[in-house]
Amino acid sequence: LGPAAARPDLAGRHVVVSAGGTREHLDPVRFLGNSSSGRQGYALARAALARGARVTVVAANVALPDPAGATVVRVTSALDLGAAVHAAAAEADVVVMAAAVADFRPAKRADHKIKKAGGPPIPVELEPNPDVLAELCATRERRPAGQLLVGFAAETGGPDGSVLELGRAKLARKRADLLVVNEVGAGRGFEVEHNAAVVLGADGSATTIEHTTKDLLAHRVLDLVVDRLAGPGG
Ligand code: CTP
Ligand code: CA
Repeated sequence: LGPAAARPDLAGRHVVVSAGGTREHLDPVRFLGNSSSGRQGYALARAALARGARVTVVAANVALPDPAGATVVRVTSALDLGAAVHAAAAEADVVVMAAAVADFRPAKRADHKIKKAGGPPIPVELEPNPDVLAELCATRERRPAGQLLVGFAAETGGPDGSVLELGRAKLARKRADLLVVNEVGAGRGFEVEHNAAVVLGADGSATTIEHTTKDLLAHRVLDLVVDRLAGPGG
């Protein structure tokens, strides 16, 4: 279990983790999805359990064994995930949004399988999904004081800024406490066992976590969470 298991610094805490990637259905058999495996979210759940927390995992289309001892709530779409995360967050000390949540969903879901019918391809109209993390941050005062809200962001950098600049702007926009910024592309991030990140804090902090396993990255992120939790043990 590693050294952290000997230090139950999340005992008595409820940690909610969203994991995986949402699916936005067009019809009963087709969806818009993403390639998030849920590995980082599940690693966070296992790490929190090893540190004594009660853990709820909101799992979007994850094909991995359940973390032993966690309550696992299975969801499909971003709307499902939002409802499950809001319900679990009502009495949580920490919410970690590790899931890849679709930004858009088809405006209409057909009741029956869409047929190609020999005609031209049909355009798919999209509408925006709610931003679950931003909603949680905007409604903090309705929930237990001191709840810590953590986001994940996979960035490539681009004309709008560097990976870190985009991360800073995202943290500020969402009003989260911590944002774990992953640089993706070239075999990094999705669908690989290893991960590296910079964790940005609303307090202006930036903590680099070197290329490591998803399990160790999870523990380092929880170290930063524990440092910021108020009250006994924090
Ligand atoms: N997130 C969320 N709800 C959404 C989209 C994202 O809660 N509808 C959360 C993710 O779980 C993650 C964080 O917000 O913790 C950042 O996700 P990301 O996709 O990087 O942010 P976006 O605001 O969607 O920005 P982008 O335009 O870069 O996709
Ligand atoms: Ca997004």
